[in-house]
Amino acid sequence: MTASGFSALRVVAVDRDTPESVLLSLDAGNDPAFSFAHGQYLTFRHEVDGIELRRSYSICATAPSGTLRVGVKRVDGGAFSTWATSAVRVGDVLEAMAPMGSFTHALDPEAARVYVLVAGGSGITPIYSIAATVLAEEPQSRVTLLQVDSTTSSIMLLDDVEALRNRYLDRFRIWRQLTQEPAGLSLLDGRPDEDSLAECLRRGMLDTDPDHVFLCGPEPLVELVTKVYTKLGVGPERIHTERFTTAQSGRARTRMQGPVDESVTPIGSGTAQLAGRRTEFSLYDGDTILDAVQRVRPDVPYACTAGVCSTCRAHLADGTVEMGVTYGLVPGEEDAGYVLTCQAVPTTSTVNVDFDA
Ligand code: FES
Repeated sequence: MTASGFSALRVVAVDRDTPESVLLSLDAGNDPAFSFAHGQYLTFRHEVDGIELRRSYSICATAPSGTLRVGVKRVDGGAFSTWATSAVRVGDVLEAMAPMGSFTHALDPEAARVYVLVAGGSGITPIYSIAATVLAEEPQSRVTLLQVDSTTSSIMLLDDVEALRNRYLDRFRIWRQLTQEPAGLSLLDGRPDEDSLAECLRRGMLDTDPDHVFLCGPEPLVELVTKVYTKLGVGPERIHTERFTTAQSGRARTRMQGPVDESVTPIGSGTAQLAGRRTEFSLYDGDTILDAVQRVRPDVPYACTAGVCSTCRAHLADGTVEMGVTYGLVPGEEDAGYVLTCQAVPTTSTVNVDFDA
C-alpha cells in the first residue's frame, strides 16, 4: 500500500457483461487487507487530463475470499467509466483502496432467515455479492430478488445470477421487472410503484416480514421500497440501503477546496487522527472537514464527495458540524458521533476527528 492509502491491483480478467458494462477481476496478491464482506466496494483512482478521478464500484463476488471482481457500467460523459469499460486490459495495474462500506451485515450459519433483495440497474453488483454470500454461508436462509432494469440486454450479471438460481433452486427466487420491454408478467411491466409492490406482496412474490431487506439502486426506487416495508412494520435496522449518485455513476467529482492563499486568515483549526498519526489542520471559510484535512494529509480517504459512499467517515471527537447529505451513515451512527467529512462543515472553531475510530 502506498502512503496515499492505495494499493496496486493487477487486472486478471476483463469480461464483457453487457454492451455498456464490463466485469474486471483483480488480483490483490493475497493482501489480507483486501478480504471483503458482502456488499462492500472498492475505491479506484485514475488520472484523466491531469485530474485525479475517484470512483467506487461494488465488489460482485462471494465474500470473504472470492476473486475480487467489480462491475463497471459506462455512463454518458463519465470519464472514469468510459476508460474502465473500453481501455482496461488484462495485465494492467489499477490503484484501489482496501474494501470499505457498511452495506453489509453479520452472517449466522445457524440462522434460517428470510431476505428480500431489490436491485435497480447496476445496483445488482453489491446485491449479487449479498445473495451469493448469504446462500453460501447461511444454508437455511431463503432469498428473494426483485431486479429492476430497462431491457433484458442491459441487465448486468445476468449469467451469474442465473447460475446462482440453478445452484440454489429451492432457496433463491428471482423476479425481473423491466421498464422498456414486456417482462413476461404484466404486473412486472414498467416501473415499480406502491400498487405493483403491494400486489407482489399480496401474491406472496415478496415476503411481507423479512428478516433483512437490502436495497440498491436509484434514489426513487430505494425510497419507494423503504416506504413500503416501513409501512409493513419492518424496522430501519432490518432495511439496508445503498443509493446511486451522479458522482458514483461516473461523472467528475465535486471539486474540493484547493490550496489556500497564504494571506487568508484561517477561521479555525483541528486535528485528524488517521492511520495511527495525528495531524493538525487549519479551517478556512467554506471548508468541509475533508477539504481541510486533505491539504495536510493527502492520504485522507474519500471517493464520492456526495455523502453517499461513506469512504470519508470519521468520528467527531470534539466540536460540532452541519452536514448535507448523510446517506453514507447507517442508522445510529450520527447519534454515535460519526460524520461524513465530505459533508461536514464545522460550526465550532475547533474540530477534532478520528478516521481510525
Ligand atoms: S466521500 Fe463518499 S460520503 Fe464522503
